[in-house]
Amino acid sequence: MAFFTRLNWQTDQDYLDCVQDLLDQEQVQSLADFVHHNYSNRLEHSLTVSYRAFCLARKFGLDKRATARAGLLHDLFFYQVWQKDQYGPKGHLYEHPRIALANAKKLTHLSDLEEDIILKHMWGATRDVPKYAESWLVTLMDKEAAMLEVSTGFYQASKGLSIRYGNALASLAVSFFISGPKFK
Ligand SMILES: [Fe+2]
Ligand SMILES: [Fe+2]
Repeated sequence: MAFFTRLNWQTDQDYLDCVQDLLDQEQVQSLADFVHHNYSNRLEHSLTVSYRAFCLARKFGLDKRATARAGLLHDLFFYQVWQKDQYGPKGHLYEHPRIALANAKKLTHLSDLEEDIILKHMWGATRDVPKYAESWLVTLMDKEAAMLEVSTGFYQASKGLSIRYGNALASLAVSFFISGPKFK
C-alpha cells in the first residue's frame, strides 16, 4: 500500500534498533496473515502505527523505544475479526487489547508504559483512558492509520471498478461502431 511504503521505516536504523528483535519473531511476522481494516494486513497496520507514533515520540522527546515496541505489539492477536468464537463476551473492540497484552507478555518484558499503550489503544471505543503521552500518540496514530487504510483501500477498489466498467463500456462502444445497432 502506497501510504505504508512511504514511511521508510526499513532504512531508519534508530527505529530498527528499537524493534528488530520483535520483528525477528515468528509471531509478529505471522500478523501478515490476518486481514486488518478490510484492505490491509495486521503487520502493515502495526508497523504503520508503531513507526508514525515513534517519529512523533522522537520529535517530542518522549520514550520512543517504548512507543515503537508497544505500537508494534498493540494488535498482537491471532484471529480474523469475524471469528467471534475467538474472543470473550465483551466483544472484539474491548477484548483484543487484553488478548494482545497477554500475547505480548509472552514475547518480551513490558514496562508499565508499554502495558498502558497496548491496553488503552482502543480509547474512544472503550473507556480505557490512556495514562501516558506515549499511549495517546499510539491511540491517535491507530485511528489515523485505520482511516487511511480504509479510505486508500476503498479508493483502490473503486478505481478498479471504474476501470472494469470503463473497459466494458469501451468494448460495447467499439462493437456497436463495428457491427452497427442491432435494434430498429
Ligand atoms: Fe486494535
Ligand atoms: Fe490497531
